[in-house]
Amino acid sequence: MAEATYEYGMIGLGTMGRNMVLNISDHGFSVAGFDKDNSQVKLLQKEANGRNVIATSNLDEFISALKTPRVVILLVPAGKIVDEVIQELKPLLSENDLLMDCGNSHFTDTNSRIEELKKSSLHFMGVGVSGGESGARYGPSIMPGGPEDVYERVASMLDAISAKVNKEACVKWLGIGSAGHYVKMVHNGIEYGIMQLISESYHLLKVAGGMSNEELHTTFSKWNEGMLHSFLIEITADIFAQKDDLTKNSLVDMILDSAHQKGTGGWTSEDAMKLQVPIPVIDIAVSMRDLSAYKDEREIAQKKLTAPGGKSGDNKNALVTQLEQALYFSMITTYAQGMSLLHYASKEYDYGLKLKDIASIWRGGCIIRSSLLEDIYSAFSKSPELSNILLDDAIAQKAMHSQTETRKTIQIGMEMGIPLPAIMTSLAYYDSYRSGWLPANLIQAQRDYFGAHTYERNDRKGTFHTQWNHEKE
Ligand code: 6PG
Repeated sequence: MAEATYEYGMIGLGTMGRNMVLNISDHGFSVAGFDKDNSQVKLLQKEANGRNVIATSNLDEFISALKTPRVVILLVPAGKIVDEVIQELKPLLSENDLLMDCGNSHFTDTNSRIEELKKSSLHFMGVGVSGGESGARYGPSIMPGGPEDVYERVASMLDAISAKVNKEACVKWLGIGSAGHYVKMVHNGIEYGIMQLISESYHLLKVAGGMSNEELHTTFSKWNEGMLHSFLIEITADIFAQKDDLTKNSLVDMILDSAHQKGTGGWTSEDAMKLQVPIPVIDIAVSMRDLSAYKDEREIAQKKLTAPGGKSGDNKNALVTQLEQALYFSMITTYAQGMSLLHYASKEYDYGLKLKDIASIWRGGCIIRSSLLEDIYSAFSKSPELSNILLDDAIAQKAMHSQTETRKTIQIGMEMGIPLPAIMTSLAYYDSYRSGWLPANLIQAQRDYFGAHTYERNDRKGTFHTQWNHEKE
């Protein structure tokens, strides 16, 4: 049995867990790994050859290899499994040990686990980790939440393993309780939004622009050198260049148009609805993943429901230029919605989030990293309490500058019957947000008309009810 000398423990040696163990060990820390599945244990043993790493499928052995007070990282699938692991671990742990859940757990589960473990004098931190397999291995963006003094115990390790931007680590303590998992959830909501926007752009370029995958590869590669520079644009360019091993066709053409989801985008929408913070681009992105799964029904509808089917008429270059602006505009509004949700959620849940820090750690390592986050970072550096980045002068200028091409792009989609729901929603959000007057007075009137719900007036205080003159006995 190994001596209690290992500084960190990792439970869950799947792709993410194993790569994170190697990353931690690269930075000079010793790690013990545990997985029930012996094949995962063997994989880590092979990969960790010569490092200060052990791996086992014996939980007692794993626990006794750890230095006390222990730090145990969980990288297991979110949901029930996290609770099962906690229940198994609890009797083996001692006072002051720390559990760090680095999976995509729902923030309300994290709150319950914090409370539950407090009773046994154990610490629990919810830590968002983004960047997929290569992020885990070479530098993710890390979003830790929990007690600040407990965070200090792991700060130097997290600092070391995280991505770096201008030599700054993409990790910062974000706030108390489930702050880390909340921020990761919103990160994923924004991820859903941007992925949907990029997919709509692909649709328009493919159908209205008649572009081949080679041309799409070139277009996205060029876009990635300009204002759209981001991880998701970069990987999209790569995807169009990938050939299928089985058929030698472009792989993207062989993939079923029905997207899966683990649910974090939907969680973001649910909580935003609960807090009454509008994030319509994220909502529509979730709905479009749902609609994509209705493949059979869509195929029936395709035969029944026709559209006028106009021709684009525009040349490809003009379309690419317009769409670049439209995509940029829509990305601005998507980040605007995600950041505004964080602003209001922080007040509601008392997280004490600093949006500047969040923008800062999202600039590297994570799935939504992009040059736009530099602008967002500057906006929050100037005004930490900004409720919406569209109110920042520099970002407002960029949104205003790209709106005309966005309107033109939407027109092409509408005329040709090509769905651009997230791009259209981005514009609708922008137009609604910048409206000092919205027609909600009519909604108030209607509510009072049919349900005597009362209304407020714009010329005096109080609530009012009218006997609307139609009212029949
Ligand atoms: C990340 C990703 C990661 C994962 C998503 C996928 O930040 O590294 O967001 O967490 O890929 O959970 O989410 P869906 O299955 O819901 O698309």
